[in-house]
Amino acid sequence: MRYVKPIQFKSLTLPSNIFYSPLAGCSDFPFRQMASSFPVGLMYCEMVKMDGLIRHEPNTYHLLDYRDTMRPIGAQLCGSNLKLAGPTARIIEDLGFDVVDLNCGCPVDRVTKDGSGSGLLKNPALIGEIIAEMVAAVNIPVTLKIRAGWDSNSLNAPEITRIAEAAGATAIAIHGRTRVQKYRGKADREIIRQSKQAAKKIHVIGNGDLFTAQDGLDLFEQTGCDAVLASRGTMGKPWLAESIRRLDHGEPSLEITDELVRDYLLEHINLIPLYKTKSKAILDIKRIGCWFLRPIKAAKIRSQLNSCLSVEEAISLITESNMNDLSSPNPSSSFT
Ligand SMILES: Cc1cc2nc3c(=O)[nH]c(=O)nc-3n(C[C@H](O)[C@H](O)[C@H](O)COP(=O)(O)O)c2cc1C
Repeated sequence: MRYVKPIQFKSLTLPSNIFYSPLAGCSDFPFRQMASSFPVGLMYCEMVKMDGLIRHEPNTYHLLDYRDTMRPIGAQLCGSNLKLAGPTARIIEDLGFDVVDLNCGCPVDRVTKDGSGSGLLKNPALIGEIIAEMVAAVNIPVTLKIRAGWDSNSLNAPEITRIAEAAGATAIAIHGRTRVQKYRGKADREIIRQSKQAAKKIHVIGNGDLFTAQDGLDLFEQTGCDAVLASRGTMGKPWLAESIRRLDHGEPSLEITDELVRDYLLEHINLIPLYKTKSKAILDIKRIGCWFLRPIKAAKIRSQLNSCLSVEEAISLITESNMNDLSSPNPSSSFT
């Protein structure tokens, strides 16, 4: 049985049911530009605050910059003020986004303290009201992203799935960890499976611990979910969706040599200074260098990169680096 296939979100046909997560501080314009070289069914921007959109904060709008090559593209709203839900969803639609999502999973205290992000998990009825406002305000599909529950004593993802469906949401992504777990421990696939069973027509998107192509297929198989959402696994691996598709369709796996990793890294870091100030760009380049170089055990280049003082120095280091001298006993890696 093939798991990877197109999926219908209202009148929108998404080319595949492998999606890339909103990742605050990571799924920015350069990241999405890189990911768009591969067949990703839907890509989300970093979350933005409803307040920031209403106040027309330039930084908030900057996070939502995109190009048509990044489509299908979704924006994620973070907030719990019912009055802002409809107007901010409409702003997202007017900006040309294909999908608008509500964040019900962010575990950060400064977000949850006013009941936003995973704070909403404590108030499922309010989630339903916010979703209903968003659905009434726009024509594009409305989705939401939740966690298994607030803690292990309140695993309410199946209940929220039913509420979101009744409110008109097209899809719900479920991260199989609780808010209390944050990113620790293993994501619980059983709660995703139960949520899928609770769903009648809402699409259920599985999320959590998807790092390899096999993880993606396991997530489909173990939960029965309609789509999967890759998150940390996409960092430094923009090709992950294509790896999953190939494995599912019985095609040869991608041959990602160390040289190719270096080329993708170079492509990514060359995009960063176009989008960020030089002082921010060098910090991002070091972080992103680590994403790409750690799996191929390029310890020497990573440490040299961390000592670079400027964008130019970092780019010439990576350009000139010899991938046959990685300080690794086994430089060739196979990516799945
Ligand atoms: C750095 C980072 C930023 C994240 N930002 C967001 C975000 O903006 N919105 C969101 O819904 N989830 C966010 N998440 C959660 C992920 O989308 C995902 O649910 C989580 O990492 C579990 O999937 P994984 O185990 O495959 O990484 C973030 C996670 C990380 C590590």
